[in-house]
Amino acid sequence: MRSLLPLLALGVVCAVAEARQPVRARKAMVVAQEPNATDAGLAVLKSGGNAVDAAVAVGFALAVTHPYAGNIGGGGFMLVRFADGRTTFIDFREKAPLAGSRNMYLDANGKATRDSIEGWRAAGVPGSVRGFELASKKYGSKKWAELLKPAVDLATNGFTVTYPLAESLKSNKLLAKFPESNRVFLRNGKPYEVDEVFKQPDLARTLGRIQKSGASDFYEGETAKILASAMKANGGHITLDDLKQYQAVERKPLTGKYHGYEVITAPPPSSGGIGILQMMATLDGSGYEKGGVGSASSIHYMAETMRRYYADRSEYLGDPDFFKVPTLGLLSPAHIKVRRDSIDPKHATPSSQVKPGGREMSESGETTHYSIVDEQGNAVAVTYTLNGGYGNGVTVPGLGFLLNNEMDDFAAKPGEANMFGLIQGESNAIQPGKRPLSSMTPTILAKDGKAVLVVGAPGGSRIITAVMQVILNIVDFGMNAQDAVDAPRIHHQWMPDKLYLEQGISPDTVAILKAMGHDVDHNRGVVIARVEAILRAKDWLEGGSDGRGAGKAAGY
Ligand code: DON
Repeated sequence: MRSLLPLLALGVVCAVAEARQPVRARKAMVVAQEPNATDAGLAVLKSGGNAVDAAVAVGFALAVTHPYAGNIGGGGFMLVRFADGRTTFIDFREKAPLAGSRNMYLDANGKATRDSIEGWRAAGVPGSVRGFELASKKYGSKKWAELLKPAVDLATNGFTVTYPLAESLKSNKLLAKFPESNRVFLRNGKPYEVDEVFKQPDLARTLGRIQKSGASDFYEGETAKILASAMKANGGHITLDDLKQYQAVERKPLTGKYHGYEVITAPPPSSGGIGILQMMATLDGSGYEKGGVGSASSIHYMAETMRRYYADRSEYLGDPDFFKVPTLGLLSPAHIKVRRDSIDPKHATPSSQVKPGGREMSESGETTHYSIVDEQGNAVAVTYTLNGGYGNGVTVPGLGFLLNNEMDDFAAKPGEANMFGLIQGESNAIQPGKRPLSSMTPTILAKDGKAVLVVGAPGGSRIITAVMQVILNIVDFGMNAQDAVDAPRIHHQWMPDKLYLEQGISPDTVAILKAMGHDVDHNRGVVIARVEAILRAKDWLEGGSDGRGAGKAAGY
């Protein structure tokens, strides 16, 4: 079994939080998974920067203070809705190296190995630095060097280690396997304790070069050269050519409607936007909400809807530059009706009986998230990642940053589960230069000409269902931002045929769901993503940082 299911250990704080108020502010808000990073973004906003400026500053700061997922060695997505209604989606997802090939992670017997998960060979070509540069050059208002400054300072002067960081580093088994990671993050066996100051001089120098020379240092300059030669020395695939050729690209966000809101969300190579739009359309008109939030009937409808979407995902989603994703078919009323009509209100449908969509679809024709709203009303949602917590475990000697293991988001062996248990097909097989399919789902809802919800999450395959549930909690069940992100969540992904239920869902409800035929996992370890959200509620911005994590919402 290759599956790591690291999503069960998304961090160290897992209990569902007690009810608490969202953070409220009048003008602007940042919600991120680490407090120093939130503060860096807020300082940029207060000094006149816009939400894109703040997003770049937060992204670099998290690369220092949240090494679990914040990164310059990974990639992600930035969704922007400008105050005037324009939108864009910056895709800085990693790419398969040019030396990548369909069966590169299979052994001589055709079995998938762990090479897509751990070590040098697991890394895709990183995109974060290019992505932030594109965002800053095209849409930012502040100087690049200013946006890097908080990160450079945090790496140079250090920051105080919190309980979640100390525990996360100590409990991680991966970092100790790689000498440079063991040195940088575990002090060669003397892990950082709470309240110690964690300085990262190598990373400070790398960030300093990027601050001075821009992304070209990372992709062509000294950083690129050190990275490429370390790759070569350690059997990795990424070459100087891979780095030079890497470009972040802008794509048109996907849009849809739900109960009076415009939903602006992530297009392929994310599977998340199509996922939430298809699932919400399937739920719409099903009466799922009638039993009330947390009721067995609403959970049943949601689970059945999720099961059906993830069957489609296994077959039809991939990098649109390599595979024609049937977006219109997947979202067509005909397909959605077939899906909705096939839900039995009283019984679970075994996943073995649910296949990826058919002819009715034919067309005519370990991650982190932060949300930002600025004074002008610009809204930015960024999800970026190293994939697993601390990525592939490798710190590049002398550079001070961890590399991703995003290659595992491909179907290393089509038809077999990846580390999130996702079954994926040929649409997501490895090809040189291709981007692996993602579940990251940065999303913005707009109403009456304004962004009213900015939301997203880490959590692997569970991101899509978590983001959808937070939207439903707000739109259909009237919750505030904090309650919406803290409420217990559920997850189903078709295969494995299991319904995951977080703590906080009542035992009576669990019993009813079991009687309906659901194979339920309701263990304490079930954690379904960590959502960071900003909601515009009348004259206030509400920040909701997920109680499952240790993030911070702050505004003014
Ligand atoms: O892009 C994806 O779908 C995954 N690489 C996301 C990984 C993730 O969310 C890990 N989270 N803790």
